[in-house]
Amino acid sequence: MTDVSNSYNEQAAMYDTVIRKLVPDYEVFNTLISEVIGCPRTILDVGCGTGNTLLRLLERHPSAKLTGLDTSSAMIEAARIKLEGRVDLHNISVEEFQTKHSFDVITSMMVMHNLKSREARRLAYGVFHNTLANEGVYATVDIFKGECERSEELFFQMWREFLLQGFSEEDVDKKWLALHKAKDMPLRLSDQIALLKEVGFSSVDVVHKQLGFGLILAHC
Ligand SMILES: C[S@@+](CC[C@H](N)C(=O)[O-])C[C@H]1O[C@@H](n2cnc3c(N)ncnc32)[C@H](O)[C@@H]1O
Repeated sequence: MTDVSNSYNEQAAMYDTVIRKLVPDYEVFNTLISEVIGCPRTILDVGCGTGNTLLRLLERHPSAKLTGLDTSSAMIEAARIKLEGRVDLHNISVEEFQTKHSFDVITSMMVMHNLKSREARRLAYGVFHNTLANEGVYATVDIFKGECERSEELFFQMWREFLLQGFSEEDVDKKWLALHKAKDMPLRLSDQIALLKEVGFSSVDVVHKQLGFGLILAHC
């Protein structure tokens, strides 16, 4: 089992109570991601966690066929309970993912910063691009580094203020921000856009940005 799977297995039970206190505009991002993807017949949610995005996608696109995957067995189990059999769920990693099917839409919400290198990201984005149907869409929310040290510092301080609204100072500094610094691998927004274009997406737009968090929409 990987370090990432272990860490999310431990977080699964309390995930839904903390995620909204960790990600500014979590609900806004979840709503927007379901609204900017047109009228897909098939959607794959990568790193689906406990199924919050899938639930929103189901409400907005009730006739679409939904699939979710996640590397953490505990997160997938929580999603299975929440989604009551309405979504095809798979306990596999992005890196293991292979399919002969194509999808109209792929989504990923707060997942890809867990991949440990730029090359791992490039490979995954390449697979997403090849898995999408003609005119398919990839919609992704993630955390980004600032474009320069000053904006990086600004986003970090403002995010810390946001975290202090939901957690004690000790939890913010010794737990959540320490975990972020030790484990996460965010890219700059400009770098992420360049990578998506490199693997073949024809256009890449930023739909919504809140501090260091953003929703990107990439069209094949
Ligand atoms: C911050 S949670 C986000 C969950 C969900 N997308 C949401 O927005 O609530 C990150 C999720 O990505 C999953 N994950 C991390 N690395 C992964 C990988 N390489 N392959 C598949 N899932 C991964 C974790 O297990 C976890 O469930």
